[in-house]
Amino acid sequence: MADKVREIFDESGQAIEFREGLEGVVAALSMISSIDGEKGILLYRGIPIEELAAHSTFEETTYFLLNSRLPKQQELRDFEQQLKSHRQVPAAVLDLIRSFPANANAMDLLRTTVSGLGLYDPDSQTNTVEKNIERAINLIASFPTIVAAIQRRRSGKEFVAPQQDLSHAANFLYMVNGEAPSEYAAKVLDVALILHADHGFNASTFTARVVISSLSDMYSAISAAVGSLKGPLHGGANSEVMSTLQEIGSLDKVEEYVMNRLATKQKVMGFGHRVYHTYDPRARILSQFSQKLAQQTGNTKWYEMSRKIEEIMRREVGSKGIYPNVDFYSATVYYYMGLDQDLFTPIFAVSRISGWTAHVIEQLQNNRLFRPRAIYPGPKNVPYVPINDR
Ligand code: CMC
Repeated sequence: MADKVREIFDESGQAIEFREGLEGVVAALSMISSIDGEKGILLYRGIPIEELAAHSTFEETTYFLLNSRLPKQQELRDFEQQLKSHRQVPAAVLDLIRSFPANANAMDLLRTTVSGLGLYDPDSQTNTVEKNIERAINLIASFPTIVAAIQRRRSGKEFVAPQQDLSHAANFLYMVNGEAPSEYAAKVLDVALILHADHGFNASTFTARVVISSLSDMYSAISAAVGSLKGPLHGGANSEVMSTLQEIGSLDKVEEYVMNRLATKQKVMGFGHRVYHTYDPRARILSQFSQKLAQQTGNTKWYEMSRKIEEIMRREVGSKGIYPNVDFYSATVYYYMGLDQDLFTPIFAVSRISGWTAHVIEQLQNNRLFRPRAIYPGPKNVPYVPINDR
């Protein structure tokens, strides 16, 4: 990849190293998460993701991300209650969702709704830590309600009000489907939410930090982050993975499909990562859930196809460090849970809102405006040609 990191000359003739896509560039010090891309290790504030997936809940992990320490029992109970009490969104925001075109992209709807939500925060321009923590809790609690309402709007159904006696994950599934989920479905989603909650300076988190670094406001930062997450190279990949599986159609067509993609230099969605050059630890956990759900539903086809894609990709490009990322197995996990494919990326946002808000707060604690350079390699002193002479 020599051409993606190369020496160039700036306007004053000075040689500088140029890293396309800011590859490997350290843009900040952050205490929120840490990734060892060679060993495949992800830590949230020092704790391995496997530990959190096995023992924590999304609510506890969120508290941890926002407050830098695990809560004591009463603190966790209070925090869960706080989240529950913020599940309702203003009626005007629900009306806004009702007014949107039913066929619009779900991430576009989410982005616009987050922006709209900011209009109902009378202090939206006040960037104190206390206000931003309050705002973060409100956003984290509101995201499931908003995403579920968007889904129901898109399928022409009436909205389902949040339930106070369900966990964050269970209540989301309840609001989407109109019925309480099984304990297992709620557990699987809870773990998926833990796994997606933060991930260093990924594109959407960096976007949020760049926006807040101008001392803008939390809603501007989060709506921009939603827009960034939407892209198929980032969070949009989980939905693309499902499209890929459907396009391939059956196990016997996998080999031909993958080999053709590689031969024509096209990406296989759900593989590769800027930081991991080995197996993404989140994908490992999600692949186990995908397998279990495949067995439970008796529909093993999508899981078996995914395993086959993985096997061929390992054989062909594993030596280049291209392995499944988080989006690869989350696709079949959500599919087996009966969730609409258009909801896959919004569900990522329902989780990542924890990380985004934690990063916005962290950025403001020691803020300096993000302002990198661009080098202009074009001609200089170009004469201005009057319009009639062109
Ligand atoms: N399939 C086939 N080849 C790949 C893939 C892939 N999925 N990903 C990378 N490569 C190859 C690429 O062709 C290139 O080869 P060469 O050096 O011979 O030209 C090399 O690996 C480096 O690729 P790159 O695109 O320069 O790498 P990057 O660090 O800029 O991109 C990535 C990282 C995630 C954008 C990329 O791997 C990709 O497009 N993957 C598919 C989309 C995807 O799954 N995105 C989810 C990312 S992880 C979770 C998240 O953020 O949501």
